[in-house]
Amino acid sequence: MQWLQGILLRVTNEVANDWWRDAVVYQVYPRSFADGNGDGTGDLIGVYDKLEYLSALGVDAIWLSPFYTSPLADGGYDVADYCDVDPRFGTLADFDLLIGRAHELNIRVIVDIVPNHSSSEHPWFREALAGIGRDRYIFRDQPNDWESIFGGPAWTQVPDGQWYLHLFDPSQPDFNWSHPDVHAFFKDVLRFWLQRGVDGFRIDVAHGMIKADGLPDVGALGHRQIELMTTAELPYFDQDGVHEIYREWRPILDEYGAMAVAEAWVSSPARLARYIGRDELHQAFNFDFMVAEFDAKSFRVVIEKSLAEAELVGAPTTWVLSNHDKPRHVTRYGGLARARAATLLMLSLPGSAYLYNGEELGLDEVTDLPPELREDPAFLRTGESRDGCRVPIPWAEGAWTNPWLPMPARWDAITADKQEHDPGSTLNFYRQAIRLRRGFRGDIQWLDVADGVLSFRRGDRRVVLNTSQSPVPIEGTVLMASGPVTDTLPPDTAVWLADR
Ligand code: GLC
Repeated sequence: MQWLQGILLRVTNEVANDWWRDAVVYQVYPRSFADGNGDGTGDLIGVYDKLEYLSALGVDAIWLSPFYTSPLADGGYDVADYCDVDPRFGTLADFDLLIGRAHELNIRVIVDIVPNHSSSEHPWFREALAGIGRDRYIFRDQPNDWESIFGGPAWTQVPDGQWYLHLFDPSQPDFNWSHPDVHAFFKDVLRFWLQRGVDGFRIDVAHGMIKADGLPDVGALGHRQIELMTTAELPYFDQDGVHEIYREWRPILDEYGAMAVAEAWVSSPARLARYIGRDELHQAFNFDFMVAEFDAKSFRVVIEKSLAEAELVGAPTTWVLSNHDKPRHVTRYGGLARARAATLLMLSLPGSAYLYNGEELGLDEVTDLPPELREDPAFLRTGESRDGCRVPIPWAEGAWTNPWLPMPARWDAITADKQEHDPGSTLNFYRQAIRLRRGFRGDIQWLDVADGVLSFRRGDRRVVLNTSQSPVPIEGTVLMASGPVTDTLPPDTAVWLADR
């Protein structure tokens, strides 16, 4: 009997550990989410205070963007201490409280890990500047032609004449992953957070850590190198060596039953597939969906491509419409009606869905922030800024005193407390969709429909999205819709139908 119990336990564990396969994961940008101590910056106690709200929303997990000790030169993606909480965000004790309560509410916790670069305030980089252990970073006597993702050259000169590499801001020096210290260090960092109970990691710039031998020039190609990221091979991205790192990490993750999702920008689905599998990572973000136009055909192309990719790796794909790096989808699609329709489509797809804090309130991008308040390091170098999607969440009028970025007056009408009891609110729309989403079963079977319309069946349900200019007839019982429907589906609307 004991052998049977053993097998059952293993199967149960495997199933329990696969929670991420169809999870709804909610991204928390700690600086902007909720302010527990009233200083104008969001913090971990703020997140703790909102766990009941997140539980009522129905999410399976939260992903916390970095809250580690940091000068916040890149919103915390510049880490000075990987194993501590920045005082502005709280303390390790606050983190323990948060994760404890999240687990009581059945919400899993994913943290961000930033292994490509540290902050220039990291003790190792300070030592490197003083001439100690410089080979933990990438120092050279001469720069090459590599460009920073944030614009301008990827090299900065130090007073003694050498140059160091930073694929992002100068305050984010790239680690040298040929150095054994770096490998050992990150394994310790993983263990540190796993021992504190985290259920997974989001790996920042997961395609970046290894650079091609000899750091060859990209060559004069006449455009910004970043534009080539998803079409060409660059000597600083998606090098085969990154896979060795994930093979080192996987046994550690397995020991704790944890998952990892990669932020990897690569040149083809086949290259992305290489990050996933039994000996590497569990999932990778699928950004194609996020960059698709609001148009039935573009959505269908991306969905089919993503499903084919998923087949390739034997792991379900991820879907995302908004995050802390891209303009919010209400604004990208030109209005709330379309955003809600796209959300309803996303939540009906097989795989996991990643939501970005505030999208459940229907927040739009804040495009008119005064330049002097913008903090994104990319803004100074390129004029492009990601601050507009990082404006604090409007919980209630006056909920923030002196928020680090001002909220637009128009958000007073859509605060979370105003939406709470309004059955037609976007908040209640998200709650209902997340709850009903669980009823979708099986693969997608595409249905033949008119141009501009997208429709498929999953099990006994059908999904229809109308991106055309005219209403289309629908049949069946409406389970829910992204806007008002009758026996026709108006433009810019999606519906979930059950067979009669
Ligand atoms: C990732 C993050 C982004 C950050 C960059 C550098 O792309 O999502 O916010 O600026 O990495 O760490």
